[in-house]
Amino acid sequence: MRYGYFDKEKDEYVIERVDLPTSWTNYLGVEDMCAVVNHTAGGYLFYKSPEYHRITRFRANAVPMDRPGDYIYIRDAEDGDYFSISWQPVGKPLDKAKYVTRHGLSVITYECDYKGIHASQKMSIPIGDNALVWDVRIRNDSDRERQLDVFSYAEFSYHHVPIDNQNFQMSLYCAGSEYRDGTILHDLFYEEEGYQYFTANFTPDGFECLRDEFIGIYNTESNPQAVIRGSLGGSFEKGGNHCAGLQKKLSLSAGEEVRLVYFLGEGGYKEADEIKKKYNDPSKLDEAYESLRDFWRDKQKMFSVKSPEDGIDTMINTWTLYQAEINVMFSRFASFIEVGGRTGLGYRDTAQDAMTVIASNPTGCKKRITELLRALTTSGYGIHLFEPRWFAPKDESEVKKKPFKSPTVIPEPEGKSKVHGIDDACSDDALWLVPSIVEYVKESGDISFLTEKYGYADGGEGTVYEHMKKIVEFSEREVGRNGICKGLRADWNDCLNLGGGESALVSFLLYRALDCLEETAAFIGETADATDFETRKKALAEKLNDTLWDGDWFIRGFTGSDRKIGTRDNKEGRVHLESNAWAVLSGAADHEKSIRALESIHDNLATPYGIMLNAPTYTEPDDDIGFVTRVYPGLKENGSIFSHPNPWVWAAECRMGNGNRAFEYYRSLCPYYQNDMIEKRWAEPYSYCQFISGKAHTTYGRAHHPFMTGSGGWAYFAVTHYILGIRPEFDFLAIDPCIPEEWDEFTVRRVFRGSVYNIHVTNPEHVQKGVKELYLDGKRTDRIYAADDGMQHEIEVVMGQQD
Ligand code: GLC
Repeated sequence: MRYGYFDKEKDEYVIERVDLPTSWTNYLGVEDMCAVVNHTAGGYLFYKSPEYHRITRFRANAVPMDRPGDYIYIRDAEDGDYFSISWQPVGKPLDKAKYVTRHGLSVITYECDYKGIHASQKMSIPIGDNALVWDVRIRNDSDRERQLDVFSYAEFSYHHVPIDNQNFQMSLYCAGSEYRDGTILHDLFYEEEGYQYFTANFTPDGFECLRDEFIGIYNTESNPQAVIRGSLGGSFEKGGNHCAGLQKKLSLSAGEEVRLVYFLGEGGYKEADEIKKKYNDPSKLDEAYESLRDFWRDKQKMFSVKSPEDGIDTMINTWTLYQAEINVMFSRFASFIEVGGRTGLGYRDTAQDAMTVIASNPTGCKKRITELLRALTTSGYGIHLFEPRWFAPKDESEVKKKPFKSPTVIPEPEGKSKVHGIDDACSDDALWLVPSIVEYVKESGDISFLTEKYGYADGGEGTVYEHMKKIVEFSEREVGRNGICKGLRADWNDCLNLGGGESALVSFLLYRALDCLEETAAFIGETADATDFETRKKALAEKLNDTLWDGDWFIRGFTGSDRKIGTRDNKEGRVHLESNAWAVLSGAADHEKSIRALESIHDNLATPYGIMLNAPTYTEPDDDIGFVTRVYPGLKENGSIFSHPNPWVWAAECRMGNGNRAFEYYRSLCPYYQNDMIEKRWAEPYSYCQFISGKAHTTYGRAHHPFMTGSGGWAYFAVTHYILGIRPEFDFLAIDPCIPEEWDEFTVRRVFRGSVYNIHVTNPEHVQKGVKELYLDGKRTDRIYAADDGMQHEIEVVMGQQD
């Protein structure tokens, strides 16, 4: 069953049936302000930090879900009947009212038709503004004049989310509101940057600043007492809970349309007046939409594909790119799952995200990489969860300021005490950064980045190259009794207890990092280093192939008591995805073992909805193995189809030349192909979700936790770099596709270091991998060296069996 469709012309996903089985998310804002919104206008707004600077409130994990939000109520003055432009919160029966929601790139539009009134509410955060704009249009489609009252509603939050949810003796007595000349002011006078405004491009006929006056304490957002009554009471107060209620009376003749624009922004009266002036002529708003479109078009232009598969084209050109970019822009904590109660960056997640969209967001990815470099210790491990401002250099003191020091907040340790010890270090964290740095240099061509100096979290500084060396040295030093990298607090799989144990995954990641370093050293002329890295890498590979091979697959590691995880004798958790994918993808596994490891993944873990993380699932709590054994079978890390590592397998299959298999896996996980089975999937078909219930669960096939997951970035990376096979190298652009053999051809437009490459790949012999002939601007060549000329180049690629 489907609820909507992809509108490829407009880059929108259009929801025609709004009574979805779960919340479908979107993100507004591409700079400092961000709104997390759902398909019925529920969600929340924050400025810079979802934890310390929340602007609107969100009641997490509540019923009805995702409330409150950004609501417009329309009331017919004749009969008192009212509805909201978004289906919720009023929730008119769907056989009486028609609702549509359009998810666009950084914009969302709610539309509704009810009793001869057509209304729409388009929301966005224009580039350069710190305000959420509600652009509302109301049209009288009936044949008589209509008297309407239009009410706006949003609920302000105390900035500091933990206090807002735990300690009302603070929040209720230093939050106030007032109204002047059409503007509602929310005032947290105790704080720096303590003002927010709500205003509109018209003179209101009434206002309400107090939430409980608007809603009524025995009512809900579905039936606010002020809307039922049809008038606002003009309340405001120092202290209490506050809202953004403005009333506008409309008299609309048949066919007449009005446009009402509301602004919910950061700042006081001055900022409110400025934004009203700026958009005094609403056509300026249309220009702001164009700028947002251009912002995304410019990114889309860096890599666009036309292939025989609509699912690849739609997702890679638009939605997966969008998801990957949003993950780099905002932290995982800004979602409906982690409801902004934490701030900062997770080391491993950010290190992986930063590798995925360097072509379309070099500045953002470099910023993330430098934040990670500064959060690395001199020992070579990363600070697992950190706020970039902790380690920002002095001249960025503006960012260093802790946003809010409340007497009731546990004081945050200063300086070096933020640096946790090795006991809290995750063994994989920093290893993800090495390939991301190398990818950044390959994409940008900025070799000098390697010699730039950055501080360490615990003091001192070193070049980027030195940071990278410290990372591998740490992992080489921290090995357990079997000679495999220690698991430390955890590796990528947070739920495996590797304390005292060893991680096969981390050892393979180390191999990959050494490989990256060897290649880098060779390119920059550090030949002695290159040889040294090569020697270390080879010795490691030998060790891993010997110690970790289990006959048909690689084990996952050793527990603290030296039991093997993921071996043929295990009844539960016999085969694991991560170690096998990375054995192959890193290049460490011998050829034969690579083939068999991938076969074992296929035979034991593949499902029609993607690849499960491990199987059979754990059913008995076993703390030696870890928390994974205490999660219900088929959910999360216990044998679900965990999305993030799926693309590792696609890429590993490509490395081995299996384009058919790589695409089969891609198709099984890709949400695009599940648009017609939402009764099973539940979640949105335009973004990857963190996991899909595995075979062992009653909800097998149901997707959970959209958008903020590393699967967006990894899916984008694996498709662009491995399936389509277009990869930046230090001084050239590699073209090495690995596609389904039935494909005849595909084209990609790729911008690489300022030059445009129009790449046309044909596959006359119907192979899965292998480039037989390569032409640059009509001339045969064997490499596409970076032209650095800002020109367009035509590239013809003929795939086929190599002699
Ligand atoms: C979550 C975490 C990520 C971890 C994964 C698997 O997605 O954000 O860091 O790797 O779970 O446990």
